[in-house]
Amino acid sequence: MSIPTVCIIDSGIGGLSILQEIEKLSSPVSYVYCADKKYFPYGGLPSDILVERVSYLAEWLFKKRPFDILVVACNTASTVVLPYLRSKFNFPVVGVVPAIKPGCLISSTKYVALLATEATINRSYTDDLIREFSNQTVVFKIGSNDLVRIAEDKILFGVIDEKSIAKILKPIINNKKIDTLVLACTHFPFLIPELISILGPKVKLVDSGTAIAKRVTDILGKISYCNRAPRGRSKLDFISTENISDYKGLSNHLNLQLDVNFLDFCVSD
Ligand code: DGL
Repeated sequence: MSIPTVCIIDSGIGGLSILQEIEKLSSPVSYVYCADKKYFPYGGLPSDILVERVSYLAEWLFKKRPFDILVVACNTASTVVLPYLRSKFNFPVVGVVPAIKPGCLISSTKYVALLATEATINRSYTDDLIREFSNQTVVFKIGSNDLVRIAEDKILFGVIDEKSIAKILKPIINNKKIDTLVLACTHFPFLIPELISILGPKVKLVDSGTAIAKRVTDILGKISYCNRAPRGRSKLDFISTENISDYKGLSNHLNLQLDVNFLDFCVSD
């Protein structure tokens, strides 16, 4: 039985936080990972361009490396592109969206902070989630595009700008009622050690990684592979739409227990 292929798209390294969670739950997988460096950061793109871009990439990647599931491992993209992708393609599309429901459920004080890119913070999709799932909980929205770059710098170059992180977290530090922080950007789990060191143990951190991994393994199970558990290690074909060399250092700062292959594919657009 061959190993299934999971394609993961993000603007940069954020989707690797989702890949790491899938790895914890599943048998070996063949990953095709696309970092859309050319259009990074997605938080700076108008919605219509973002929909067009992710759809174009998904089509291009599927032609180049047919896959079983597409994971849009980016809240900024998923909060706007999912309906279009699902109407256009036959393969299953899993999106990553802000974990507002679990965040509000675990808060004891009923004061929760939501940290995301500015685009995700301003999406009507996010407001709808808050309306539907906050249930008497006050949700403070904090948008930061800088934190995305700070996470990239940590994973690619080992550079950590703790001072800037503390500045971004100021509204949470200043509000003693907040006891839960929802990380609604796939880049942010890479900053968990710094977030804990700045916010202390009283603020619980919630992200979407485990739920998404569960969804992906459920789908893999349905395409009849998980139960047969093929042996061996997962492998990762890493593609960037620009400057693949920038990513070659990521293995030094990430403990990836898989065989990584950096591909020099050229996306024509
Ligand atoms: N990783 C993406 C997310 O989850 C954001 C990155 C970007 O703005 O490019 O929202």
